[in-house]
Amino acid sequence: MSAVSLYAKASPDFDAKLVETIDLLKRAAQEFSPLTQASSLGAEDMVITHLLAEHHIDCSIFVLETGMLHPQTVAMIGRIEARYARPVDAYRPVAEVANAFVSTHGDKAMYQSVELRKACCGIRKMEPLGRALAGKKGWLTGLRREQSNARAEVEFIEHEWVGEPGERAKVNPLARWTAGDVWHFIGVNNILYNPLHDEFFPSIGCAPCTRAVTLGEDIRSGRWWWEQESAKECGLHVSDSAEGQSSSISSIIPIKEVSA
Ligand code: ADX
Ligand code: SF4
Repeated sequence: MSAVSLYAKASPDFDAKLVETIDLLKRAAQEFSPLTQASSLGAEDMVITHLLAEHHIDCSIFVLETGMLHPQTVAMIGRIEARYARPVDAYRPVAEVANAFVSTHGDKAMYQSVELRKACCGIRKMEPLGRALAGKKGWLTGLRREQSNARAEVEFIEHEWVGEPGERAKVNPLARWTAGDVWHFIGVNNILYNPLHDEFFPSIGCAPCTRAVTLGEDIRSGRWWWEQESAKECGLHVSDSAEGQSSSISSIIPIKEVSA
């Protein structure tokens, strides 16, 4: 069953949200240039990439290609470039550092402790993120308030202090969108999406740290599923003070049972 038929359900005020989102994207490109989009190549980010192209908005696109993504996810890079004629810049970890970590701790280190998992995220995501954002005045993410308690207060525009040269804007144009809105928009516009979404992966990260979910499970329950809810962020969207926050809001969507 396709993710569109499973999840698409527009909110009553969807049209207003869409107008608000497009306005915000245009404003961000004017006020925070150079602007870049952080794309995990997942559903939310495909909506944003589509809107950027449709409205001719000046914004580069990058993916943190951790070396651990599913082949279906990596394949999205070429599919996006072919469909929208925009490059997707892949930022990869420093090979020597990533290899040394695996040699020392093994390729299952992420399951051993939160510290080792975060160290792996540091090498494969955080350090490349720093390079991707260098010199940028703003970045777009696909964060939505509904995704988790830790994200419940995501603002449309957040200002991050980045030392010299000052502030960078983190813009979250889908902050108010529901999962139903995302899939409604994908369905109506025939937007490309990662085929793993059709296999009950509502949220997709690195292969070792992502699994399919089952009926009634939270949409982020397939991410770092062996960890406590409060630890389940890789650092891309967590300030030091917010780490350790507990999560209680659940964004349960109807998901069909997966056969093992
Ligand atoms: S994560 O922190 O748990 O991995 P999630 O997968 O929900 O985040 O994605 C939230 C947003 O973070 C995405 O919409 C995207 O903007 C950004 N993001 C996550 N993973 C990546 C990635 N590999 N490359 C670029 N951006 C990413
Ligand atoms: Fe490593 Fe998993 Fe973090 Fe990817 S999500 S960088 S594989 S710990």
